[in-house]
Amino acid sequence: MRESPTKLKYKFAFKNLKDKYLDILGIYDGEYGYKGPFHVQIDLTNNCNNSCIACWCNSPLLQEKRLSEAEKQKHLPLELVKEFLDETERMGTKEVYYSGSGEPFMHPHIMEVIEYTKKKRLTCHVNTNFTLLDKTKIGDLIDLGVDFLTVSVWAGTPETFCHVHPGSNEDVFFKLKNNLIYLNRKKKEKMNNPLIKIYDVIFNMNYFELEEMVSFAESTSSEFIEFTLADTIPNGTDILRLNEKQTQELIEISKKIRRGANKDNKMPSGLELFQFHQFLRRISVAKDVEEAKYDRNIINSMPCNAGWLFARIMPDGEVHSCLKAHRIPTGSLYLNRFSEIWNSEKQSYFRKKTLAYEKNDPFFRLIGNDPSTKEAGCYKTCDDIGRNTWMFNRIGKLSLLERLVLKFIATALKSTRKLKPKEERLSRLKASINSQKELPKKRNLFRWLILILLSFYTFFYIVYFWFFMVFRNRLILGGRKE
Ligand SMILES: C[S@@+](CC[C@H](N)C(=O)[O-])C[C@H]1O[C@@H](n2cnc3c(N)ncnc32)[C@H](O)[C@@H]1O
Ligand code: SF4
Ligand code: SF4
Repeated sequence: MRESPTKLKYKFAFKNLKDKYLDILGIYDGEYGYKGPFHVQIDLTNNCNNSCIACWCNSPLLQEKRLSEAEKQKHLPLELVKEFLDETERMGTKEVYYSGSGEPFMHPHIMEVIEYTKKKRLTCHVNTNFTLLDKTKIGDLIDLGVDFLTVSVWAGTPETFCHVHPGSNEDVFFKLKNNLIYLNRKKKEKMNNPLIKIYDVIFNMNYFELEEMVSFAESTSSEFIEFTLADTIPNGTDILRLNEKQTQELIEISKKIRRGANKDNKMPSGLELFQFHQFLRRISVAKDVEEAKYDRNIINSMPCNAGWLFARIMPDGEVHSCLKAHRIPTGSLYLNRFSEIWNSEKQSYFRKKTLAYEKNDPFFRLIGNDPSTKEAGCYKTCDDIGRNTWMFNRIGKLSLLERLVLKFIATALKSTRKLKPKEERLSRLKASINSQKELPKKRNLFRWLILILLSFYTFFYIVYFWFFMVFRNRLILGGRKE
């Protein structure tokens, strides 16, 4: 039976309200997520056909810290990925990133995974070294409608390409380039995606080649290019850090590139310098660059909201709260469903601890790759700055009334949640895990009922108050001036 236009209109309005406010309601709560993560990253596999020199997982400089052969064999089964996508899509997730510690195209079912992601109408991003693709696979990718590909090149010339990807050769560079040209031409013919972002990780072996990297991206007709500084690992890849002189040189080259672009960071060819302001900020303090603390100059200027916006799934099913939180996993998809992990005690604790401007709590030392750090691991690089800035700006744009109402509802909901004895909540949770069933809807219904009642109450109270203020002269004082 088709729904009436009025019903559809209300459904749409309600969905808009949910999209606009539910995540913020969670942030005002301080611990709870009323909506799933907007973005998820799925690390499909640890396996990779490359050994890029700065890679966190496969660089030859890491020696025994490199992923072992056994680790590399780990990958997420197709069925588990599908279940996860079903669940997160129901929870409100909109974007999925396939990336991680290996090469997504090494996963045995990558095409099925992408197909399923698009079937769920989720925006699909894939980070890839692009060396495993041929014309047939490229055609399939365009037909499947994958939205974005981020292609790790790290070089503008074949010589540097071979230096920064040991074991590779110039033929690979030219094949990669020709395949990109082919993809960009074919997708235009078919009027479809993916948009291509060339991704260049910068360190002391390639920092002098930014202009050539821009030319490479332009020659392939790609839409974006992004530069980032290499996040290095102590006693491993940290020999790739830039020194002061190299940083100054990099600043000069970057300024020159910036001068060639318009105010929207677009080059005359149409290529966009993606988040170039962030790159310029990161290289602006030579001392921080030398110490590889690239985000020290921004991290304390806003709270961290990653605990409400993002989740990462590892090839062994582990769940992480941010891209640098691998030392504090919150659960495993083999033990619990994602919706349970999303509001587990560990995830709530992460939210509570990280919702701070100043990152001086010792908890932040658990972030990142360096267990011996004496300060927040976030100072090194926070890959979620974009997400945090997005939420910070959204909250900043709320009106006073919206803030008051949301705070009021969040406090009320938190109190109703605390009313339920913890043991009862836990036993319900255990029962649902054992039976592999959805959590009974009753609890959600009860919460929604309270939410609606409170909203009505707040709304009528505000209208009453406003009415009283405007018409008080006429009603109470009979129009007399005081
Ligand atoms: C580990 S890779 C996995 C995906 C795929 N194999 C690739 O290279 O694009 C994930 C992303 O991390 C980037 N990356 C690798 N090592 C890095 C480092 N030390 N610092 C910053 N980014 C790095 C890669 O360029 C890629 O965009
Ligand atoms: S291709 Fe990606 S995962 Fe593989 S070594 Fe390079 S950066 Fe690491
Ligand atoms: S690195 Fe730090 S600031 Fe960034 S998302 Fe993780 S916890 Fe938050």
